[in-house]
Order: sequence, then C-alpha cells, then structure tokens
Amino acid sequence: MSLAPTPLRVLAFAGSLRRNSYNRRLLDAAAEAAPSGISVTVHDSIADVPLFDEDLEAGTAGGPTGVTRLRAAIAAADGVLMATPEYNQSLPGVLKNTLDWLSRDDARYGAVLAGKPVAIMGATPGHWGTRLAQSQLRHALAAMGALTMTAPQLYIAEAGTGIEPGTGYADAATLKRLQRFLQGFDAWMRLLRGEHPPARET
Ligand code: FNR
Repeated sequence: MSLAPTPLRVLAFAGSLRRNSYNRRLLDAAAEAAPSGISVTVHDSIADVPLFDEDLEAGTAGGPTGVTRLRAAIAAADGVLMATPEYNQSLPGVLKNTLDWLSRDDARYGAVLAGKPVAIMGATPGHWGTRLAQSQLRHALAAMGALTMTAPQLYIAEAGTGIEPGTGYADAATLKRLQRFLQGFDAWMRLLRGEHPPARET
C-alpha cells in the first residue's frame, strides 16, 4: 500500500506591481494548475515593501509591516515560487528590493529564504522570455542561500499571446508547460526533504 505524499504549501509572489501583470496572472494560473501534491497561495502584492534602508530596518522592531507580512507567509510555506518580469535586461528593482529585505537576519524569522526551496519563472511580451532577469534572480537567491530549482526552467515569451489578456489563465500550451514546471518543483521540494520524488508525467 502506498501512502499519499505530504501536501506541500507554496507561497508565490510576482516581481511586478502592475494591476494586469502577466507575471501575476501566471501565478494565478499556477494556483489553478498545481498538481495534487502541492497547493499554491499567491501573495497579493509586494507593493507594501518599502525601499530597503538600514536605518528603517534598525528603527522598526520586526521590520516594516509589508516585510513582516511576507516573511511570515514564506516561513509558513514549504517552498516559494517567484514570477519575474524583465526590465532593461535585468531584474526589476521592486523584486530586488524585496529580496534585499528577505535576505536579512530577522529576529523572528531569520534569513527566511536561506535553505528554502525556491522556483523561479517569468513572462514577457518580448521574445526572450525573461532569461536575463531570471539569471540575475538566480544569482541573488544563491547569495542568500535559497535552494533554487535548477531544472526545469520556464521562460514565457510573447506573453500577450500565451496568456490571454484580461484573464488569469494561460492558454493550453502554456498551461501544459506550467504544469510540468510545477511537477518539477514538487519533486525538487521532496528531494530536498529527503522524500522519494513523485514520478513525472510524460
Ligand atoms: C520592459 N520590458 C522588457 N521586456 C523584456 O523582455 N526585456 C526587457 O529588457 C524589458 N525592459 C523593460 C523595461 C521597462 C522599464 C519596462 C517598463 C518594461 C517589457 C516588460 O516585459 C513588460 O512591461 C511586462 O508586461 C512586464 O511584466 P508584467 O508587469 O506584465 O508582469
């Protein structure tokens, strides 16, 4: 008799503040498409994370509210999923700023991404699918000790066609790629937990 695997909780957030963000909608699609072993909760926004400032950090016990809110959500999750836009062939400033806060050794939550399984993906209307932004994001996450999934990788190019405007849903081909990616993340989290990874669908 085989036991059902432990359900894993994934906290997801986007590196975009835009109301109709492709990356945010990709996360909404991920929450819908998650395989049975994991549940994806989308953090509403990182708009309440202030610009990083060591004086502000020193003057607010536990950190500013927006930072504490995100830290608590990450601490309660088994893994973190980030969807990033690409700005000027780089990581968006709002996301880098958020990571700088999260990298700090908070009294309650510690450096909350250190040792945490993380998956990154990104969507753009452009042709290159956020490759450069993801490369930089991966680099910053390594610096703070996050355990970022190496493969599969997910680059969504020409997002206006892959994610229908005005909806939270990816088209069928994008959805399939997203599902494979999430199955990979399920396996990655279980590998790091010392569990036998589930068999991949072909
Ligand atoms: C962009 N965009 C962009 N896209 C890309 O693929 N490579 C890039 O280097 C850039 N550079 C860039 C700079 C700036 C300042 C802006 C505002 C935009 C386009 C970007 O991918 C597009 O605006 C996305 O829709 C942003 O992601 P969200 O907000 O839809 O998630």
